[in-house]
Amino acid sequence: MKSILKNLVVIGGLAVGIHMPAFADTKVGLVLPYTGTYAALGNAITEGFNMAIDEAGRSDEFTIITEDTEAKPPVGLAKARKLVLQDKVDVMVGVVSSGVLGAMRDFVHQAEVPLIVANAGNNLATGENCSPYIVRVSFSNGQINRPMGTWMAENGVKTVYTLAPDYSAGHQMISSFSAAFTAAGGEVLGSEFTPFGQTKDFGPYLANAQASGAEAIFVFYAGGGAINFVKQYGSFDIKTPLYGSGFLTSPLYVAAEGEAAIGVRASLHYIPTLETPENKAFVEAFMARYGTMPSEYSVQGYDAGLALMAAVDQGGTDSQSIAAALPKVSYVGPRGALEIDPATNNIVQNIYVYDTVMENGALTQKLIDTISSVRDDVAGCQM
Ligand code: PHB
Repeated sequence: MKSILKNLVVIGGLAVGIHMPAFADTKVGLVLPYTGTYAALGNAITEGFNMAIDEAGRSDEFTIITEDTEAKPPVGLAKARKLVLQDKVDVMVGVVSSGVLGAMRDFVHQAEVPLIVANAGNNLATGENCSPYIVRVSFSNGQINRPMGTWMAENGVKTVYTLAPDYSAGHQMISSFSAAFTAAGGEVLGSEFTPFGQTKDFGPYLANAQASGAEAIFVFYAGGGAINFVKQYGSFDIKTPLYGSGFLTSPLYVAAEGEAAIGVRASLHYIPTLETPENKAFVEAFMARYGTMPSEYSVQGYDAGLALMAAVDQGGTDSQSIAAALPKVSYVGPRGALEIDPATNNIVQNIYVYDTVMENGALTQKLIDTISSVRDDVAGCQM
């Protein structure tokens, strides 16, 4: 099924629904976790990416090579080096972990091979360590959490206790949230970071959160960590309501969390229940292809595919042309209007506040509020 999105992709003011038949082959390295705590995320991004390319009828133009980062920084860097130096890819798509993105940043910048970031929220990659070769179609850690800090303080939450895994994404998500929450009058009563990918028992952390007397718990967990955390929150005798970065109750794995996810309130750049024509068409096509609801990770992969095709149509298939064209991409997609801010190469997009609710026997996402067109500060980025 052809998506209506194809006709809406615009670059530099020109619609690119009609593209030149590309005789040159573009080599794409997908550098994602296919094992470990973020394996499901890597697979979901890959599905979205493949769908965009197939749906456009352009599979013949792209040779795709996948490499497993295992969500480990040194492994991610080694895989990026292999893709560039040995496979000679023109462009890379990927990276789930902020830690892996941090490790790869200097190599990507020096190699001058563009990386379309399809998840990792590392603020520095579109801040003080920005690069003309790093373009983000996903989100930054600050972009998801800063608006939620303000929103919660303005919507009656006065005190919180925060928890997140102890690596760069956990620290950035919580510090962005906490700065905005306190600036809007809230107070953070306590904060802990749990060993990344290793914490089996969240009981002691939940006990400390409860003992702090905070009105709410705010957390970032994703993938396997999110499933464990939400399940344990559900079985722990705790009345303190749970809030978080929306990855906590992602449609990708919320079913595995079960009833414990009901009532969790969170912020995210995409939920599959958005009532827009672009999203409805996307959800229908995704369900027809994969038989499941799409998640934010599927959309990030899908948008990486659309952005790549738009850049190739505009600029050509070599690394320099793709890198130069990517910041000009803008369109209305499943998540709403998106554009790339050329000052940082970070995405500008809506952030949605949503609740996880039970409807007709299944967990789903209920839209509570929309914070429009969230743009990060330049934050020291010099292109
Ligand atoms: C990250 O490490 O930046 C990260 C990982 C998983 C998510 C979100 C962010 O769901």
